[in-house]
Amino acid sequence: MNINQLKSVAQAIVAKQKGVLAADESSPTIKKRFDSIGVESTEENRRRYREILFTTDGLERNVGGVILFDETLRQSTRDGVPFAEVLADRGIVPGIKVDKGTKPLPRYVGEKIVEGLDGLVDRLVEYKQLGARFAKWRAVIEIDESNIPSAFGIRVNAHLLARYAALCQELDLVPIVEPEVLMDGAHGIERCEVVTGQVLEAVFAELDAHRVLFEGMLLKPNMVIAGKKCPRQASVLEVAEATVRCMRRYVPAAVPGIVFLSGGQSAEDATDHLSEMNAMGPHPWEVSFSYGRALQAPVLAAWKGSEANAAAAQMALQKRCRLNGLARDGAYVRMMEGEA
Ligand code: 13P
Repeated sequence: MNINQLKSVAQAIVAKQKGVLAADESSPTIKKRFDSIGVESTEENRRRYREILFTTDGLERNVGGVILFDETLRQSTRDGVPFAEVLADRGIVPGIKVDKGTKPLPRYVGEKIVEGLDGLVDRLVEYKQLGARFAKWRAVIEIDESNIPSAFGIRVNAHLLARYAALCQELDLVPIVEPEVLMDGAHGIERCEVVTGQVLEAVFAELDAHRVLFEGMLLKPNMVIAGKKCPRQASVLEVAEATVRCMRRYVPAAVPGIVFLSGGQSAEDATDHLSEMNAMGPHPWEVSFSYGRALQAPVLAAWKGSEANAAAAQMALQKRCRLNGLARDGAYVRMMEGEA
């Protein structure tokens, strides 16, 4: 295990003003995204869309890493340059989603586990050859107002995350550890804070037991936020305060960065929350983003599958990257959304 390499890659991904572009939608997920703009999910459309993302001018200013899906890591630009090379040449670290999606947790109605440990070492070796320098595994924690998640559901997901993270580090790949407490449902922000705290406590206990090097990993958690159907939505300040409080309680200072997922928040909310949290700093870790939808929703809306809109799509991505870069310094205000 190359400790210095793990540390330096983790730090590079969350360098000042930078975060992660999560472009690792699995085939069923990208189909959903394409359906929303009336575009057929063919291999060429997926390739072209990702090419538009990765060749956006100035992307490297605010993006330190990009998470790819298996198919995407094997794809290239029109000119035949593999995407991993395109990114690495610009100083952006290519990464790979390695979990194989969720399955119901037997006998725990409403809870999920993630598949993907079988054969993982062989896949990691190949991904490294293809240019990946970090990996991501997403655990999904369902939440309701009372019984879900169970202590067992939390423990089993924490264990899987730690097994994955330890295997990655053995092979000098930085693990992004993603325990996502969903924002679906009617629970309030208080319930989200309790559950997120329980999950993070369990995750770091398992990571520690598996001897994962905290300095050579990144955490990708949800923000502490009310469920979408909760009648009382918390303010930006409340979300930032609750999230920072929860992270300070449960995330060791040795972890170089926390890269939040957006989880279904609007692009503007996700940027605003990130900025507010950074304004409350300094923090022991970099506080950054690893957004999928909050970076890409405006890009998809601008692109609509048409070549004529490629430049507009790239401008939409540049805007989100620039604003999230400002949010890394706590310097974003909503008024900036109206600026060119
Ligand atoms: P969202 O930001 O859309 O939640 O996606 C991030 C991600 O990588 C989910 O695994």
